[in-house]
Amino acid sequence: MPQDQNKIRVAEAALNYIEEDSVLGVGTGSTVNHLIDAIARERVRLDAAVSSSEESTRRLKERGIAVTDLNSAGQLSVYIDGADETDAHLRLIKGGGGALTREKIIAAASTQFVCIVDESKVVDVLGSFPLPVEVVPMARSYVARQLVGLGGRPEWRADFTTDNGNAILDVYNLDITDPVTLESTINQIAGVVTVGLFARRPADVLLIASDGGVKTKRR
Ligand code: A5P
Repeated sequence: MPQDQNKIRVAEAALNYIEEDSVLGVGTGSTVNHLIDAIARERVRLDAAVSSSEESTRRLKERGIAVTDLNSAGQLSVYIDGADETDAHLRLIKGGGGALTREKIIAAASTQFVCIVDESKVVDVLGSFPLPVEVVPMARSYVARQLVGLGGRPEWRADFTTDNGNAILDVYNLDITDPVTLESTINQIAGVVTVGLFARRPADVLLIASDGGVKTKRR
């Protein structure tokens, strides 16, 4: 399947950004799963990984990669993660897998955020992918009404609980022409834990895989 081949290709390209014997920030999703596999296959020497989800933690440990806690690791030099959408300014929508809160924390605590995508994720304007918002369960309806007030159509991701015990609203129809402002606006709604817009702290390096190879963009 070509999209899967591109995910493998971009995951392998990301190995060049890993510093040996360091603690690496590791994201979540199918592209990152290929990264974890490539780290194990190529025997990349890591002190440990800081993981953004229980799913990635499990995969890392299964492949013999030590996982440590962000509080012990301190500032990370590199964080590698996928995205659901990216624009030309390396601003992202993330959270399709529901791991957005821990992903945003690790991105904030990392000096270099390397984002790995296949070309299907690149858009002119963010927002075709519904924007995930993690909310405290008791605030779900309240936050949904505020998001309707912003022009969105929130849908509760039923039967899903985040690793932090919270709910996800996937918001359709939002106008995301100013992602930095919208990120702050949604962050201010009481009950919102994290919005899946990564615009205030976008990626620093974007690796985009297509059938023709892997392109690199920097901020
Ligand atoms: C996880 O919550 C997301 O932010 C992922 O980074 C995103 O969904 C990318 O996933 P894939 O690599 O599976 O496309």
